[in-house]
Amino acid sequence: MKRKRVFLSFVTILSAAIIACTQNNKGNTAQQAAQDTIDSTETCVTPSATKYPNQDKPMALMMRQMADNAAKMKEKVLANEKITASDFPFIRFHLVEPTDPDVLQPQFFENARLLQVAHKNLINAPLINQKEMFTAYINQCISCHEIYCSGPLKRIRKFKLDFKE
Ligand code: HEC
Repeated sequence: MKRKRVFLSFVTILSAAIIACTQNNKGNTAQQAAQDTIDSTETCVTPSATKYPNQDKPMALMMRQMADNAAKMKEKVLANEKITASDFPFIRFHLVEPTDPDVLQPQFFENARLLQVAHKNLINAPLINQKEMFTAYINQCISCHEIYCSGPLKRIRKFKLDFKE
């Protein structure tokens, strides 16, 4: 009897994690609660990531680099300094192994392409348009994350220029 209950709560937690990671964040309260837990870890939690926490996949590592870069880019944009391709080359995250192979769908690759276009526009933008292009770039991170990996959304939204605590 006790075993069964343990098993059932395991299944509940597991499905909450899967739902939070695959659906966007317009959810009910239960889903929101699951989401908040994931936000605190800032990763895109999947069952395999939970099982092997120390085996980070190349895509997860590249995403962390992209987030660090976005923070540095934001500082530069706010200081009115030019963002360059040599400081911030486009990271080809879509060609490497993800934690959850199910994300590799046509929509995912389309979102990756749109991020690359936004990155190119940002690099090529004259200083006067840099703020606008940086905003468009961060919005592409958000678009993909709303579909494929809602965990880091809270962190990514902080990269927006108009973000307020
Ligand atoms: C095309 C979809 C897509 C785009 C665009 C995208 N991401 Fe991700 N992101 C993902 C997926 C999928 C994962 C999960 C990767 C994994 O675990 O292998 C992820 C994971 C992350 C993580 C968590 C990494 C960790 O520690 O596990 C962060 C932070 C992140 N992304 C930030 C960003 C930022 C910043 C941008 C924009 C510059 C961005 N992402 C653009 C799909 C995307």
